[in-house]
Amino acid sequence: MSVVLQEIQSAVAFIKNNYTETPVIGIVLGSGLGSFTGEIKIEKEIPYEAIPHFPVSTVEGHSGKLIFGELSGKKVVAMAGRFHYYEGYSTQEVVFPIRVMKYLGISTLLISNAAGGMNKSFKVGDLMIINDHISMLTLNPLLGKNEEAFGKRFPDMSEPYRKDLIDKAFSIAAAANYEVKQGVYVGVTGPTFETRAEYKMLNVLGGDAVGMSTVQEVIAAVHMGLPVFAMSVITDIGIREEENTITHEEVLQAAKDAEPKLTHIFKELIRVL
Ligand code: HPA
Repeated sequence: MSVVLQEIQSAVAFIKNNYTETPVIGIVLGSGLGSFTGEIKIEKEIPYEAIPHFPVSTVEGHSGKLIFGELSGKKVVAMAGRFHYYEGYSTQEVVFPIRVMKYLGISTLLISNAAGGMNKSFKVGDLMIINDHISMLTLNPLLGKNEEAFGKRFPDMSEPYRKDLIDKAFSIAAAANYEVKQGVYVGVTGPTFETRAEYKMLNVLGGDAVGMSTVQEVIAAVHMGLPVFAMSVITDIGIREEENTITHEEVLQAAKDAEPKLTHIFKELIRVL
């Protein structure tokens, strides 16, 4: 058995000792989107540092714990705080929690993130359902010897974001009278925001939004056959006329402002899953 599989099993065993229910949905919350956890009827919180082999989160706006409880009538596990490659974690560490949640028993993964808009019709505060992604030099977490227990060597990536979940989310958004965009998320390493030339290039290459997370998590989920739904909050506009700059604070504020809509869509999606 590989070291990573042993580590996951020991993390899962520890969690199961502390919380005996089986979550059916896993949730990853992006920058500035952590107050979503206030919606969960919390049954157990486990700080990352308490879990064997779990990485520990460092970025502002990420608190760092697994939250277990009930939401929309379902048992869920939410990651308050995720791990980014730019923080210095290995790809194995970035996807470790995704694998742990799968081994805890989840059957669907919901992901949120903050992203920079590149599609010319986007504005700050928009929600974008991710219908595909482009990895822009983010290291693939499946490099190295394949762990067959997770999945096969060459996973198909024709539908990393499940169409049926996207359709359900659009119906929920329409019923709530929300205008929701959809598009291609470009995953970059960061931690710099893009130059003006880079935003333009990524848009020409087919990207609608760009961010520093998600792609590696989704690859690990697809590898394990775990259905994914993901949504970006557009927190800044990369391609713009004015001379303004982008700050992390502005990203967090825009995410907070858009959060209620994202929360509603996630909650209702969980209800119908
Ligand atoms: N670029 C990359 N990552 C981001 C951005 C951006 O403009 N906004 C929020 N995360």
